[in-house]
Amino acid sequence: MKNRKSKFLVALSGFLVFLVTVAAITGISVLVYGAAKNRFGDNALPIFAVMTVTVLFFALVCTLIDGIRRKIMVDRPVGEIFNATQRITSGDFTVRIKTFHPYGRYDEFDCIICDLNKMTAELSKTEVLRTDFVSNVSHELKTPLAIIQNYSMAIKDEALDNETRTRYAATLAATSKRLTNLITNILQLNRLENQEIKTETTSIRLNEAIAQSVLQFEDKIEAKQLEIDCDLDDVTVKSDASYLEIVWNNLISNAIKFTGPQGKINITLKEEDGNAVVKISDTGCGISKETGLHIFDKFYQGDTSHAQEGNGLGLALVKKVIDILGGEISVESEVGKGSTFIVKLRGAST
Ligand SMILES: Nc1ncnc2c1ncn2[C@@H]1O[C@H](COP(=O)(O)OP(=O)(O)OP(=O)(O)O)[C@@H](O)[C@H]1O
Ligand SMILES: [Mg+2]
Repeated sequence: MKNRKSKFLVALSGFLVFLVTVAAITGISVLVYGAAKNRFGDNALPIFAVMTVTVLFFALVCTLIDGIRRKIMVDRPVGEIFNATQRITSGDFTVRIKTFHPYGRYDEFDCIICDLNKMTAELSKTEVLRTDFVSNVSHELKTPLAIIQNYSMAIKDEALDNETRTRYAATLAATSKRLTNLITNILQLNRLENQEIKTETTSIRLNEAIAQSVLQFEDKIEAKQLEIDCDLDDVTVKSDASYLEIVWNNLISNAIKFTGPQGKINITLKEEDGNAVVKISDTGCGISKETGLHIFDKFYQGDTSHAQEGNGLGLALVKKVIDILGGEISVESEVGKGSTFIVKLRGAST
């Protein structure tokens, strides 16, 4: 409705401009003819006619030149931009338009074209990330779902002895727990990436928070007979406790997961130049240079055979959290010898 009204107003104003122009030209012509008649008497009409034709001729030439200029300078770029935007809105992000002038001599259209090219490049990158993400998530969901499907069928078999049935039930429980973890991690990562987060800053005694996190893994540490050594100074930082918990949990869980039985894990916490420095070292399999380049990527796992549990989301979450909280994370590692993850958080006090 509003659109219709504004269209009508535009048409009306165009009509009024046309009317005023015609009236002005007619008025000026009458005045010029009157002046010519006063001066030249009966010769006024042919002189006026020649003058009018000459004026009309020049007006026509000027209009033609302006028309050609508009065609080249305005209609062509507007047409190209229009075609490109049509393709973009229909989902084609491969569109790139060539600028009409060389770099350094850009006009307004070239600037719009450059911005449009940048926008489509950004959109196609996001599109690739989105499709990669969707296919990774579907892939990671497929395996546990297949396990749940198969075991839930198998458990129905009445001939199963009790021991096997209990084993199947345990597998079902463990797989659905893995599925829950995966979904929790995806949701958490999604929230962090969409910046829908409000951090709650409080004073955190890091030594207590880290010790608390270690305690959660007691069973796993015991099962693998790992030796765990914690040297934690009494260091306090102002940060978000629940987000920091994601960091400690994932780093400690990785150290346990990637260290063989009877291995060693060492955790230290120190205050250095106003930073809290946490080092989590293990004597596990270590990380090669090539793997090290990707460990913070979503869904990346050094071992593509998926021999270990997990989906490759832990370190992506850790990195995102540390970026948001304004810290740093780095890793030092040697294949076969072990790895050390170093986290630095600003604003530490003892
Ligand atoms: N302490 C470590 N020792 C050796 N390799 C590690 C260690 N921590 C991480 N990695 C490597 O980095 C990869 C990514 O780690 P990340 O925590 O993101 O995923 P994950 O532990 O495999 O799965 P998830 O964390 O989702 O359970 C791991 O698959 C592993 O190859
Ligand atoms: Mg992990």
